[in-house]
Amino acid sequence: MTQDWTTSGPDLHLALSAAGTRHAALEDALRAAIRDGRLAAGTRLPSTRALAGDLGLSRGTVVEAFAQLAAEGYLDARHGAGTWVAGISPGAVAPVHAARQLARPARFSFSPGIPDLTSFPQAAWISALRQGLRGLSASALGYGDPRGRADLREQLASYLARARGVRADPELVIVCAGFRHGLSLLARVLRAEGARTLAMEDPCVPQHREVAAEAGLALWPLAVDGRGARTDLLDESSGRAAVLSPAHQFPTGVVLHPERRAAAVAWAAATGGLIVEDDYDGELRYDRQPVGALQALAPDRVAYGGTASKTLAPGLRLGWLVVPPRLLDPIVSLRAAEDVHVSALEQVALCQLLLSGGYERHVRRMRARYRGRRDRLLALLAARAPALTPVGISAGLGLLLELPDGGPTSSHLIAEAGRRSIELFPLDTHYRDGRPPRDGVVIGYGALPEHDFEAGLAALGDLLSDLLA
Ligand SMILES: Cc1ncc(COP(=O)(O)O)c(C=O)c1O
Repeated sequence: MTQDWTTSGPDLHLALSAAGTRHAALEDALRAAIRDGRLAAGTRLPSTRALAGDLGLSRGTVVEAFAQLAAEGYLDARHGAGTWVAGISPGAVAPVHAARQLARPARFSFSPGIPDLTSFPQAAWISALRQGLRGLSASALGYGDPRGRADLREQLASYLARARGVRADPELVIVCAGFRHGLSLLARVLRAEGARTLAMEDPCVPQHREVAAEAGLALWPLAVDGRGARTDLLDESSGRAAVLSPAHQFPTGVVLHPERRAAAVAWAAATGGLIVEDDYDGELRYDRQPVGALQALAPDRVAYGGTASKTLAPGLRLGWLVVPPRLLDPIVSLRAAEDVHVSALEQVALCQLLLSGGYERHVRRMRARYRGRRDRLLALLAARAPALTPVGISAGLGLLLELPDGGPTSSHLIAEAGRRSIELFPLDTHYRDGRPPRDGVVIGYGALPEHDFEAGLAALGDLLSDLLA
């Protein structure tokens, strides 16, 4: 049994445990509310009389609890004037979201995973939405197909076939909330089918490992070398599913060698296994023809995954899967049950953007811009940090900067960058054991707004030449 207070003072649900004394229960509930931020500093509490009435406690109990919390520094009681939540709560654990908000963002972020958000095609998006809404039937705002809107799936299928060589049947396209969501759907379906392990490139996006673990799958780390993921070793895995980023391995930037592509497909065919293809930045390739999707080699064995996170914005939470036929029903059932979908309006807008060619125009414009940035970054590195080796430079939004032995370490570099309000990202967190074969930092050149890019580069150049001097 708990008691709730919802009727007076701040609008706060305060649950009192039935265990222990009444004043201890009230103290605990108030402490918890202050610690987790539901009662913010400066909030005025109700009078002891009102609170006692609301909670069915004696006034003395509330007075006692307030006095205790004031003594501990949680509350600030001004005689006759009232009681407030104190400015600084002793030992209070800042809630994670508050801590994130408080951490001042760096002046220059070289995040590798984020595009230039200031270049989001707002006008095109708005007009696509307006266009899409015109003549939209009311039923489009109902619950809809768990795979996503049929017209969007059709547009995606034709775009992916054209731009990425995917063998895409609109019936097998599933609109999801970003690649990570698509991976989570696949991982859960695999687990439900009895899979126990999932091979995953090592290094990779750390959150993808979490997705697999969350689905109950053990990870089988797949080493990556200069020819990409060691798909020739997949036979050694006891599992029958593997996640690969063939077009541009993250974060090393290696393209999967044709022999390794063939080995992956042969392994999947021989074992009846599944390859999850992470084609997160397939459109952003600079120096040569895009590397086509692996899925085209074995559409029955590869689940292809793409995302709008790099080409448009991660905040849209828009991605897509093209799945082998046998996975369609289990994914649709899971989807219907979990009820996590992309808003119909976002789907309408993306569909129109694809239909009008606006999406591809935007991708072309951004590809040219990022290529220019990449070239300027490479020129800067050659001039000011020739001892460092940039790798994985031919695509995407970032590159890997390998640091030679005997020079500054990545932690030193990142810490010094932080002091100068420059955000750089370590390579080691992408490895399961935190130990890359060579130390390095991942540098994204997409995230900075266009107007800040030159200044960011200059600051990075100064940092590198100071540290390498
Ligand atoms: C390797 C890789 N795959 C996929 C994604 C896309 O993630 P999402 O579509 O979930 O935003 C990212 C984003 O950072 C990534 O780095």
